Amino acid sequence: MKNILVTGGAGFIGSNFIHYLFSEKSFTGRVVNVDKLTYAGNPENLDGISDRFADRYVFEQADICDRESMAALFERYEIDTVCHFAAESHVDRSIADPDAFIMTNIMGTYGLLETVRRFNASRAIHFHHVSTDEVYGSLGNAGFFTEETPYRPNSPYSASKASSDHLVRAYGETYGLSVTTSNCSNNYGPYQFPEKLIPLIIENALNEKPLPVYGDGRNIRDWLFVADHCRAIYLIMNQGKRGGMYAIGGRCEMENIQVVTAICDLLDEINPCRSGKKRRDLITFVKDRPGHDRRYAIDFSKLHNELGWEPQESFETGIRKTILWYLDHPAWVDRVKSGEYRSWMNQQYGE
Ligand code: NAD
Ligand code: TYD
Repeated sequence: MKNILVTGGAGFIGSNFIHYLFSEKSFTGRVVNVDKLTYAGNPENLDGISDRFADRYVFEQADICDRESMAALFERYEIDTVCHFAAESHVDRSIADPDAFIMTNIMGTYGLLETVRRFNASRAIHFHHVSTDEVYGSLGNAGFFTEETPYRPNSPYSASKASSDHLVRAYGETYGLSVTTSNCSNNYGPYQFPEKLIPLIIENALNEKPLPVYGDGRNIRDWLFVADHCRAIYLIMNQGKRGGMYAIGGRCEMENIQVVTAICDLLDEINPCRSGKKRRDLITFVKDRPGHDRRYAIDFSKLHNELGWEPQESFETGIRKTILWYLDHPAWVDRVKSGEYRSWMNQQYGE
């Protein structure tokens, strides 16, 4: 890991991962962050990094689908490791308009793999693919996803991620590339774009706006604090079995309505409404998402048994840190919610 290419490093998890890398003593290499800067990418997420690690950090704005640009980066920076985050990541957007999901998540991953294959002829390159538990579809009331669970994606987003997982696996088998893949549950924490459930609810609750809960609010997700996820990725990249796939979870299954009420109660405690209202009164049940997966839950025994990983953050500690971060960063939220994001919300909801 001398010269690591992080794709999508200006997004939520990618930027947390770059912060993690520079805090990790065993990492002494250089990071090349390549990001197209879609509505979800924000170089501000790396503020501080470019100043403090000017000789070890480079930002390059480019589209992973642009193979010539990718090849130029591999050449110029002598890339030996790739950690691939870049993707279109929001399920609701994939339902409204799947095009960008097919292009970036499938064709973009394919292009990167081809570039790795080309350069791998002259130097060994490791490729880590960051994927999701949503590729496995939906669970009933019992059971857990493991690395052995058959793929059954239900949304255009999860189908595009499943496709990219298969390509990564195939390039390992067919061309002998050194690859690892991780499939994690729902992340939350600092720098998450406020269209995903947790930051959206925090922002709306802070501004005393309605809190939209899809369907009956009883869909279950397993919540993983982003720093725990970053630690797992680093471990897998360094010590994971080549060709291996690893499920990562937060040991934290919750119904959406429990998540939303927990945020309401904590915000009432930390930052009570000026009007004296209770934030739970803002909860509004809205039309369900089409094809809405009912339950996700992860058995991460493989990662635990092979590499000794387990989450350090509980939901109570993680959500408090997250809320405090959003309270401390109102300017960040205002900026990311302007521009392209606002026009998309206008188109969808006439806001
Ligand atoms: P995000 O939407 O916050 O960030 C994605 C980043 O990729 C953005 O910076 C965007 O500008 C960049 N990007 C998009 N298209 C690009 C392109 N064509 N070329 C270059 N850059 C491009 O996403 P995230 O939540 O940080 O997710 C990162 C990865 O983790 C994704 O692959 C996602 O599928 C996976 N994942 C996310 C979660 C979660 O809960 N957020 C859970 C499981 C897996
Ligand atoms: P989300 O954060 O979009 O992640 P994912 O769809 O990848 O799991 O949504 C998490 C859960 O919250 C999911 O069950 C859908 C639900 N949800 C709402 O109820 N209201 C909302 O406004 C959003 C964005 C999501």
